[in-house]
Amino acid sequence: MVKGILLAGGYGTRLRPLTYITNKHLLPVYDKPLIEYGLEALYLAGIKEICVVLGGAKPEDVIKYLGNGYKYGVNLSYKWQGEPKGIAHGILCARDFVKEDAFVVHLADNIFPNGISDFVKGFEESEYDARIYLAKVEHPERYGVAEIKDGSLVGLEEKPKKPKSNLIITGIYCLKPSAFEVIEQLKPSWRGELEITEALHNMVISQNYKVEYRILEGPWFDCGTFDNILDAGLFFKERMRGR
Ligand code: G1P
Repeated sequence: MVKGILLAGGYGTRLRPLTYITNKHLLPVYDKPLIEYGLEALYLAGIKEICVVLGGAKPEDVIKYLGNGYKYGVNLSYKWQGEPKGIAHGILCARDFVKEDAFVVHLADNIFPNGISDFVKGFEESEYDARIYLAKVEHPERYGVAEIKDGSLVGLEEKPKKPKSNLIITGIYCLKPSAFEVIEQLKPSWRGELEITEALHNMVISQNYKVEYRILEGPWFDCGTFDNILDAGLFFKERMRGR
């Protein structure tokens, strides 16, 4: 069984004052709260055991809204991250939820409008320890950036000053429990976080792990800013009109 982790920690400082009112992941994107897009994507990919990792501002609002997941057809549990210490730290918080299963980590501020089913398909049975979803963007320096040589993934770097490509890591990761061995060895980065990008890089350059990538062709939104929330909202408004 593949399990899901929805990472919903952090204070959402770039979205103040709205994040003084409620948790960042409950802010509206067109007709529903941001976090519901991730939950729906996991559900549609067949993932029904989901752990929401909370921290930062107003986490109780998320629990009150999502509850035990019954209304979404999933089984929800919660873990407490506390202070935002990075994506890899958030994943570590859910270690005893994951146990020996393959799992998908979905950042709760990311939206994949065409779903994640194709991305997740076949991972559990595969020989890979990790699978990442890359997208082409105009400003790769704001993200985790992939270096690809002759079609092979050779390295990953978080927010590099001189990006080695314009292919960046979107906020979704398929992982096996073997990833914990590498995550556990991480030290905080310059921004004080345990970086999943660094863990994946270490897996890429090690002989002991296998990391593969897929390239996302469709739309994708990282809703960490007002502009991106607005762009995502307008996208869903148009899509709704088309229907
Ligand atoms: C995080 C990751 C980064 C990734 C991005 C996708 O960035 O660290 O590698 O490209 O999510 O949304 P952050 O939101 O912490 O700036």
